[in-house]
Amino acid sequence: ADALFLQSKHVVITAGPTEELIDPVRFISNKSSGKMGYALAEAASKMGAKVTLISGPVNIEAPKNIQLVKVQSAKQMLQQVMNIINECDIFISCAAVADYACSQVSEHKLKKQNDQPILTLELIKNPDILATVGKLPSKPFCVGFAAETQNVEQYARTKLVQKNIDWIVANDVSKEGIGFNSDDNQVTLISHDKTMKLKKMTKQKLAYTILETVCAVN
Ligand code: C5P
Repeated sequence: ADALFLQSKHVVITAGPTEELIDPVRFISNKSSGKMGYALAEAASKMGAKVTLISGPVNIEAPKNIQLVKVQSAKQMLQQVMNIINECDIFISCAAVADYACSQVSEHKLKKQNDQPILTLELIKNPDILATVGKLPSKPFCVGFAAETQNVEQYARTKLVQKNIDWIVANDVSKEGIGFNSDDNQVTLISHDKTMKLKKMTKQKLAYTILETVCAVN
């Protein structure tokens, strides 16, 4: 493909997990290394795009020549996405956003109560960042991810419609050696009228393949 396929495009990518505080020293989070999102940021940049990577806490280095915005919680991630979404041509939502946050964050460290064997946390639903972008009147071209352990294609297709997006990248995270912390991934790319099952490949190679495929029409 053309090396500068995405020249003059501004690509915004969310990546990594979010952390939802319980108290100053504890949080609820998701299993996500950030590898796929960072690989997408690197590939988009090499393909000529201006890239903004909005990332939750991860242990990997950001690619050069991109704008990195670090956040902790889902609400912060939403705020940073909304700050920039009007300048964005392509939005890729790769982050494993926590579905719920604590309804109250304790100001001080919660103490262990020796006489109370059960501790109850009240959780409240987080905003769905991708669905929020999908509802914008002049929204960018939107790509989501769906990690599933069963009925992968069917569930992913439902999310494509419900979140009002253009493509969804579906992967079966019940299989070993793909997804999560792995260096490889095997996904199916799903649009409103196409289904493309890709072979297993490195996340770097997959990042190029995803961008070439989904942005070919853009
Ligand atoms: O509904 P589900 O969480 O499975 O959808 C996954 C897709 O939605 C991913 O693209 C993810 O980045 C995005 N998402 C989001 N905000 C949430 C939950 C999911 O942007 N609160």
